[in-house]
Amino acid sequence: MEQIAYVNGSYVPLSEAKVSVLDRGFLFADGIYEVAAVLDGKLVDNASHLARLERSVGEIRLELPETIARIQEIQKELVARNNLVNGMVYLEVTRGADTGRDFAFPKSVRPTLVMFTAKKDIVGAPSAKTGINVITVPDIRWERRDIKSVALLAQVLAKQAAAEAGAGEAWMIQDGKVTEGGSSSAFILTQDDVIVTRQNGSEILPGCTRKAVVALAEERQLRVEERAFSIDEALAAKEAFITSATVFVQGVVAIDGKKVGSGKPGPLTDRLREIYVEFAKATAV
Ligand code: PDD
Repeated sequence: MEQIAYVNGSYVPLSEAKVSVLDRGFLFADGIYEVAAVLDGKLVDNASHLARLERSVGEIRLELPETIARIQEIQKELVARNNLVNGMVYLEVTRGADTGRDFAFPKSVRPTLVMFTAKKDIVGAPSAKTGINVITVPDIRWERRDIKSVALLAQVLAKQAAAEAGAGEAWMIQDGKVTEGGSSSAFILTQDDVIVTRQNGSEILPGCTRKAVVALAEERQLRVEERAFSIDEALAAKEAFITSATVFVQGVVAIDGKKVGSGKPGPLTDRLREIYVEFAKATAV
């Protein structure tokens, strides 16, 4: 059966889910998105994703066309209509379609809200066992990476370079330090057992999975330091991993072809993955 998408108030077959060529998401990347995981038919850490959505739209002065409560209802309805068990819900809100291509905000134009779902076995993904290779690329993005904007061209190019190199992610580098992955947060475990991930700020997206993993680690008395790290430090680390809604916690076993730690996902990575999956299942709505 064909997937069902949501477009501005209607549930429609995915192939019929369309927006105008004048939509500002299409013309200017004038929009915000969120991706929430679905486990056993329930939304994972969704309050955190919706809080970030509210913050992102506020930062670009875009008014949501629906309340946050209603958005969650639509997400759930879409999961139900698609009989989605494991995967994700994608949602995007743009500043809508005006009658022409004016850069400044249009007046009295209703924002566009679209959603669709995709299947993915995040918990059982083979890469959880093998880990992934990453490559490094310069971080060429704009200066407000804390906003989850749909302007993802730099990440498209970074992740394409990774794919061509047989790697699962690209780590972006600015001033000699890792900012984050193309679509994930970056972590290392130092030789003295400190979990290091870059501090939030305008240089990175405040990852929802990152936030939960940091809190879960701290609750277990694991040492966490939020600061920038270099590739040399990552190559000298015991372990490295990434986090995101679409992979949860995922081991990084090589950077630019050089082995990290044992060359396999490390024990702390495996443990944090288990802890996160447990948290995700226990708190999903
Ligand atoms: N990306 N950093 C960037 C640049 C991201 O695009 C993402 C998520 C993350 C991790 O955030 P979270 O833990 O909230 O998913 C960090 C989503 C999954 C995507 O673009 O598909």
